[in-house]
Amino acid sequence: MAEGRPMQAQQTQEMKVATGDRPILPEGARTVPIYIMGKRYEVPETLTIMKAMEYVGYKFVRGAGCRGGICGACSTVYRKAGDYKLHFGLACQTVVEPNMYLTQIPFYPANRAVYDIEEIEPTADSVYELYPELFRCVACNNCTKACPMGVEVLDYISALKQGDIARAAQLSFDCIQCGLCASRCMGELPQYHIAQLARRLYGKYIQPRAEHLKKRVEEILSGKYDAMLEEVQRMNREELEKLYEEREREPDLTPPGAWMPKDIRYL
Ligand code: FES
Repeated sequence: MAEGRPMQAQQTQEMKVATGDRPILPEGARTVPIYIMGKRYEVPETLTIMKAMEYVGYKFVRGAGCRGGICGACSTVYRKAGDYKLHFGLACQTVVEPNMYLTQIPFYPANRAVYDIEEIEPTADSVYELYPELFRCVACNNCTKACPMGVEVLDYISALKQGDIARAAQLSFDCIQCGLCASRCMGELPQYHIAQLARRLYGKYIQPRAEHLKKRVEEILSGKYDAMLEEVQRMNREELEKLYEEREREPDLTPPGAWMPKDIRYL
């Protein structure tokens, strides 16, 4: 404690630092004005929307997850000054632009059918029964324009209308379930939930089984690896490290199939 300084004053100062006051920008750093839910802020021009919001004091309780463009929790809608169009993006991936007006849509209340994947047939009729609104699609393509992942939403919806579950599953593979497609749909379809059903049906019933995986599971169940695993479990740390260091390693840049280990007992 500094001499002669009242305890309360010292605590106040420590708290100010500990609660994370905004960082001081390096000299020369440029800022741009953005509008978050209608309020104007100056933020460093290099930040993503998510970091800019945190920079001005927002704390994410909802609306943020992976921060890596995968979870779909941070969907954001924005308009640029002088531009009539709506733009869509992930707050964790989209860099701020001067005079953007933004708001977040961390959850979209779209219809989600209830089903047990074990109980339904992998047919188009199952999809139509669970999501009859599929046929309300008017092919306006707003869904595709809203997708921050570049998924061809209208194409997979069209594939499903034609009964092609496999194509819908493949076309929607990059969907991160953010719901922005549904937010723009004039037919009020929950595209992302319908696509998820297609992928589940495809993965469980339609996709060819991996033969090598099936074979390996059979080998494990038959006890092929038991002795080797027991041997490894008996080793001490030094022995394990030695085993790891001396393991056979595939050389870098080997063409596929061109390398085989000397010990093939467990392949
Ligand atoms: S936080 Fe997960 S996609 Fe942005």
